[in-house]
Formats: sequence, C-alpha cells, structure tokens
Amino acid sequence: MRNVVMAVLAVLVLAGVMLGLARWLTPPPPQDTAQSDTVSIGGPFELVDQNGQEVTDEKFRGRLMLVYFGYTFCPDVCPLGLTTIAEAIDQLPAEDRDQVVPLFITVDPERDTVAVMKEYVGAFSDRLVGLTGSPAQVDAVVRAYRVYARKGDPGTDGAYLMDHSTFTYLMDRDGRYLAHFGHSATPEEMAKRLETAIAAG
Ligand code: NI
Repeated sequence: MRNVVMAVLAVLVLAGVMLGLARWLTPPPPQDTAQSDTVSIGGPFELVDQNGQEVTDEKFRGRLMLVYFGYTFCPDVCPLGLTTIAEAIDQLPAEDRDQVVPLFITVDPERDTVAVMKEYVGAFSDRLVGLTGSPAQVDAVVRAYRVYARKGDPGTDGAYLMDHSTFTYLMDRDGRYLAHFGHSATPEEMAKRLETAIAAG
C-alpha cells in the first residue's frame, strides 16, 4: 500500500514539474490589438509653419513633440486645449522647457492660412508652432495621427464649424507615440507626464 501511495505522489510531482516547465517554455501571448493601434499613431509629415517655412517632422527630432489638432475659428475647445499645453510647459523647470515643442496643426487649411496661424499661435505662447499646408498635406497628417475632423454645415453667412477630436499627443524624441491626453487633462497632469518623458532621456 505504501508503495502505491509513493508511486502516485511521484507521478503527481512529475506532472507538476512538467506543467511548470510547459508554462515556462510557452511564449507570452501577443499584445492586444488596441495597444498595436496605439503604437502606430503618428508618422512623417510635411507642412508649413506660421512663418511660411516648409517643415517636416524631422525638424523636431531630439525633442518631445506635443501635438494638438484643431482650427483657429474654434469657439472654445481649441483655445482651452492650447492654454492647457502652454501652461503645462510653463510648469516645467526652466531648463527643461526647450526639450518640448508644442505643435498646433490645423484641420481647416482652407481658412487657416499662414498669416491667420501666425496671429493665432502668438496669442498662446511664443513656443507654439502653428502648422498648416495644402489640403492634401493636412489630410495626410490627420490620417497619420488618426484624428477625426469633419466640416460642419455652413450657416447663412458661409461660416462653418469643424467637428474634431481633441486629444493631445505626446511623441518621443524619435517622433514615436508615447502617450495622449484627453481634453479634460490638467496642465499639472500634462507637466508630470512630460517630466517623466524628459527624465527618460
Ligand atoms: Ni477646436
């Protein structure tokens, strides 16, 4: 009887070891699709800044990019988003501020000319880079960042609103996606995340 018990115990122990070994050898499951989608946000772009200079994303390599999409005729959403970004950068230690470049990319190139962009971004921060371009150039960057933007029906005066997503994207020094902030993010939250990214080098 004792031999039978010992044999059963031996089999159980062996089975346990095999199971442990099998788990150890099994590769981890692939990342879920949501995470894969997130990683592919962003990419190269060619646009025109508020001084009329053609710029590409390459210009900002080596610095973190805070990217916000909107339009200058936006009644309140964009002004709040851009104010949050400007305040977040102001909250960084002075020596860190140059490591972040805030970009405001218009989704309304029809009205947001270089001159309009220059006057607009200057009202928020000297650091803010306003980017516009041809409809095709803007369309390309909007798609790369998976931004939602749709022109509303014009009123009797021809004026229209744009319905658009309001995320702020944080891209690393190589232009790759790091994080995004929703419209309700505070300057404090944004500054904290920026400091983490700056410290990461
Ligand atoms: Ni807006």
